[in-house]
Amino acid sequence: MSFEYRNNVLFCDGISIPEIVKSHETPFFLYSEDFIRRGADVLKKAFIDKGINVSYALKANSNIYLLNCMNKLGLDVDIVSGGELFVALKAGFTGDQISFAGTGKTESDIKYALESNIAQFNVESSFELQMIQKIAKSMHLTANVLLRINPNIDAKTHPHISTGLKENKFGIAMDEVDTILHHPKRYPNINIMGLHSHIGSQILNSEPFMTLIDFMRNYLEKLKNEGIHLTHVDLGGGFGVDYTNPLQTPEENQFVLEKIGHYAKEQLSDYKLFIQPGRILVGNAGLIITKVLGEKLNSEKRFYIVDAGMTELIRPSLYSAYHAVLPLNDTHGKINADIVGPVCESTDFFSKNREIPKLHQGELVAIGSSGAYASSMSSNYNSRPFVAELIVDSKQDVKTIRRRQTYEEMSQLYII
Ligand SMILES: Cc1ncc(COP(=O)(O)O)c(C=O)c1O
Repeated sequence: MSFEYRNNVLFCDGISIPEIVKSHETPFFLYSEDFIRRGADVLKKAFIDKGINVSYALKANSNIYLLNCMNKLGLDVDIVSGGELFVALKAGFTGDQISFAGTGKTESDIKYALESNIAQFNVESSFELQMIQKIAKSMHLTANVLLRINPNIDAKTHPHISTGLKENKFGIAMDEVDTILHHPKRYPNINIMGLHSHIGSQILNSEPFMTLIDFMRNYLEKLKNEGIHLTHVDLGGGFGVDYTNPLQTPEENQFVLEKIGHYAKEQLSDYKLFIQPGRILVGNAGLIITKVLGEKLNSEKRFYIVDAGMTELIRPSLYSAYHAVLPLNDTHGKINADIVGPVCESTDFFSKNREIPKLHQGELVAIGSSGAYASSMSSNYNSRPFVAELIVDSKQDVKTIRRRQTYEEMSQLYII
C-alpha cells in the first residue's frame, strides 16, 4: 500500500489523505507504517539474513513511535548524541543494541553511554579516544570501540553530505589509525574491536560501497600481516532514495542493497559486519501535508505560499534538495511557480522554477519524501511551534505520534 493515487486521490496505507486532513490542522507530517515494515524487510533479506547487523541511524527521524517500530522489526540503533541515547532507551532499545558515532562527544555523553552499557563507540579522533580512556578508567570499565577511518573515498554525492574525503571533518586519517592500532597499550581501558566508516549520504549506486569494502579488506589484510587482528567492521549508512518519485516502493531498493550485502559478506566473511541505514528506511515513508495560504505574482514570477516552511523541511535550503510536490487530488493542469513557506528567509522554499500542479488558495498539497532529515531537523525559528506527526499504523488507524507543540510549551524554557 504505502502512498498511492486511487482515482486521482492520494492515499496513505489505504486511507484517503483528504479524509485525514478533515480532522487535522495543517501543516503536519504523515507517515506510512506499511512502508517502514516493508523497508525493514528489504534490509532483512539483503543484510540480516546474511548475518550483517542493521542499526537504524536515529538522526534520520527520531520520533519515538517510529524508533519503537524499528526495535520491534529487529533493528538495532546508531546514535550521535546523549539526547539520541536518551530517546533510544526510551523507545525500548537496550544498551547492547546501541552504537555511538559522532565527531564531538562530550564528557557527559561518554559517561552516560558507559553507564548505559552501550555496545560500542565509533570513535572519530585521537582526542576522543583519550577522553574515553580517561572516563572508562575512572569508572573501572573497559569501553568497546571501533575506529571511524577516513578512507578518502568519493561517495559522488552532494558535497554537503559527503563524509569520507580527506577534506571532510569525519573520521581519523589512515596514518593516525595505524599509529593507534600499533600502540594499544596507550589505551588500557579500551578494547579496539574494529573499523567503521560512513562515506556519505544519498548514494544511489553500489559502486562507492564496493570501493569501501575493498578498502577495508585490503587494510585489514595489511593489519593481519602486522599481527593486528580486528573482528568488527561497520560500513556505515548512506543508501539513497528516489526523491523524484515519492511514491517509490521499498522493494525498488532491493537489488542495489542485495548487491552490497552479498559483496560485503563475500569479501569480509571473517568479520562481524554492521551497516547503519537512516534515510532509506524513512525517507519515502513520510509526506508533509500543507495548505496553500495564497498565490502572488511578483512581476513575472508566480509564488504559492504554503503554511509549512523550512522549519519543517530545511533540505531544499541546506542542500538544494529536490522534493516533489503532490496534489491530494490529482486533477490539475501544470504551472511554472515556486512553492515557498512563510518563514522570513529567501531560502524558505520547497520548489523553485519548476512545473508544478496548478493550485489555488486553501488547497492542500503534499511535499514528497519528507520522512528523513525533515522532522528531526525541525526548528522553532520565527517562533513556529513543532508541527504534529501522524501515522497510518498497521491496523490502518490514523494515529497522532507527536502532537503539535503549543505556544506555551515553546516558550517555557525562557527565564525572565
Ligand atoms: C555515522 C553515520 N551513520 C549513518 C548515517 C545515516 O546515513 P543515511 O541516512 O544517509 O543512511 C549517518 C548520516 O549522517 C552517519 O553520520
